[in-house]
Amino acid sequence: MKMMGVAVAGCLVPACTMPGAQSPTAPTEDASISAARGTNEAPLTPTRTNRAAREEQNAAQPTPYAQAQQDELGSPLTSYEMVTGYTNFYEFTMSKQGVAALAKDFKTSPWEVTVGGLVHRPRTFGLEDLLKKFPQEERVYRMRCVETWSMVIPWQGFALSHLLKEVEPMGSAQFVRFESAYRPEEMPGQRMAGYPWPYQEGLRLDEAMHALTILATGLYGTPLPVQNGAPVRLVVPWKYGSKSIKSVVKIELVEEQPATLWSTVAPHEYGFYANVNPEVPHPRWSQSSEQHIGESGRRPTLLFNGYAEQVADLYKGMDLRQYF
Ligand code: MTE
Repeated sequence: MKMMGVAVAGCLVPACTMPGAQSPTAPTEDASISAARGTNEAPLTPTRTNRAAREEQNAAQPTPYAQAQQDELGSPLTSYEMVTGYTNFYEFTMSKQGVAALAKDFKTSPWEVTVGGLVHRPRTFGLEDLLKKFPQEERVYRMRCVETWSMVIPWQGFALSHLLKEVEPMGSAQFVRFESAYRPEEMPGQRMAGYPWPYQEGLRLDEAMHALTILATGLYGTPLPVQNGAPVRLVVPWKYGSKSIKSVVKIELVEEQPATLWSTVAPHEYGFYANVNPEVPHPRWSQSSEQHIGESGRRPTLLFNGYAEQVADLYKGMDLRQYF
């Protein structure tokens, strides 16, 4: 990890949190979308040239499409504009609505993910290998940020377990460590002091092998936009969003519990597990309810983000207040 400057207690904002936020709020959909899209664009008039330009644009940006229209609990999908216009990617900026513009020139091709550490068959996968080798499927997941906003997102991707089986973890491997791209020349946020870049995250091996844990390569039927973690990111739907590390370049099987960016920056606020839990408040705010983006009012937060039936067994006998 490269330390950029000195971490000054009190100056660092937590994952998903705007400076000074005590009770974070999400924007209304309309305001946010217009901010994300920009409102100064002149409307196209139907001349031949403009029609051609529009067709070209459509070809370059496939129309967002999802097979499912809601999650299994009946919540509708969050709009494509919100999913891609309200993002957390601190390597670019702390402004959720500013990421997309700053990220637009980030190079995502060629891209390689190195998988190594305590494995019998270490390998480096090009993005094309990942897309070819592992069939991509749609997974509609709830995303709950530690800051208390939430969305429902149709991802495309594949189970991380498929990739891990491919490299054959050794018996001594207990955890999986993930690392994001480190390119301060392209990622202005990485030139900010106080953050131990690159962003890194970790899971216990059994969490990583769980059927719900995926590597996502797309959303809404389109390749992942950079602001959402192109070209490949982790998605762990029963944990706070900060675990779902973006733009992954390295996956390492290790024996000891790895450090994570947020538990390094503020260990008393962010634990290793980061399981969504309405009973365990963040030291500065409650986690009992959430602002679902696109809805007015708040909804109660569900244990393990509504995936308790599938994942509660992973934590049997553990004190979830201690292992937060
Ligand atoms: N991954 C990297 N590399 N950098 C980040 O800043 N932010 C995390 C996570 N992954 C982050 C990251 C946080 S705090 C959240 S809530 C989710 O990404 C947000 O994912 P989204 O922007 O696609 O909704």
